[in-house]
Amino acid sequence: MAKHTVTLIPGDGIGPEIAEAVQKIMKAAGADIQWDVAEGGEACALAGRGVMPEETLASIKRNKVALKGPTTTPTGGGHQSANVTLRKRLDLYANTRPAKNIPGLKTRFDGVDLIIVRENTEDTYAGIEHMVAPNVAQCLKIITWEGSVRVAEYAFEMSRNLGRKRVTCVHKANIHKLSDGLFLKAHEEVAKRFSDVAFDSIIVDNACMQLVSRPEQFDVLSLPNLYGDIVSDLCAGLVGGLGVAPGANIGTTGAVFEAVHGSAPDIAGKGLANPTALLLSGVMMLQHLKENATATRIEKALIAVLSEGKHVTRDLKGTAGTHAFADAICAKL
Ligand code: NAI
Repeated sequence: MAKHTVTLIPGDGIGPEIAEAVQKIMKAAGADIQWDVAEGGEACALAGRGVMPEETLASIKRNKVALKGPTTTPTGGGHQSANVTLRKRLDLYANTRPAKNIPGLKTRFDGVDLIIVRENTEDTYAGIEHMVAPNVAQCLKIITWEGSVRVAEYAFEMSRNLGRKRVTCVHKANIHKLSDGLFLKAHEEVAKRFSDVAFDSIIVDNACMQLVSRPEQFDVLSLPNLYGDIVSDLCAGLVGGLGVAPGANIGTTGAVFEAVHGSAPDIAGKGLANPTALLLSGVMMLQHLKENATATRIEKALIAVLSEGKHVTRDLKGTAGTHAFADAICAKL
């Protein structure tokens, strides 16, 4: 019997291609994992089984750990987001998205090493939207004290555990005085309990300008759901793009690891997708499972392939396809 059983949701679009590549690399690295493959996403919804079937949720609850490929959500109508459903049903309240320069990958900035902590269950993602008149739509932004405190505690505890120096709360409390005001106040209160981690705050528009000018000044950023979603894509762009940006959704009873990017319909099924973001999410998953040696081995092999630059995907200015890239990593392993 394998040491770990992990739920794998390949997802939509490029999901199955990159999931297969990651499974292959994990196997080559000797990760002792049995994959419990489960459905979720648009294809599953269109087949009449719902966007996030009960069996998939049960599998994650049983295994406590999942690796998830991206899932498609239609724009302006159609089915609910598989991600929002998953995060709400499993109460995966903290979304951690590191943005760090990867050795071997040339980007516009050096010295970027920050972590986004995105509140994952509230804000406009509570999904409460309606038409109040034929031409007037309303979307409710829900921010609670409890939801803000627990994500702030997560950000500070994570910072302490990783030896990080500073948490910055990113908000728009000058305009959203009550909702973002509550989020900010919760961070100010929690900060008092963590004297070893510095705390400050910044308005989200200024944060964006600072991030694209001097990103190296930031350490850990804690944001409400919507700003976290947007700013984490911006941060992915600082360190090589969506193809290399990993993430983790953490809750009290389970953890789901997934890339920041979506299902990339423009390149799906063509064997062009970069599996790095899902692979690095898998590395975060191995660290979560305390398989640090295997995680480090995979990271080193990835860095070696990126540094050589001979077998990298198109988004990184190479010519290799998904599987040639994965095979090059396997060869290093
Ligand atoms: P996207 O992230 O799928 O793609 C944006 C651009 O980045 C595209 O040009 C795409 O080709 C490129 N890209 C993304 N991942 C890549 C990879 N691994 N390798 C190479 N290039 C990559 O964003 P988009 O197009 O806005 O969304 C497409 C779908 O994905 C939508 O239905 C959206 O709702 C969904 N989505 C799902 C997420 C998830 O499941 N966690 C997250 C974000 C979006």
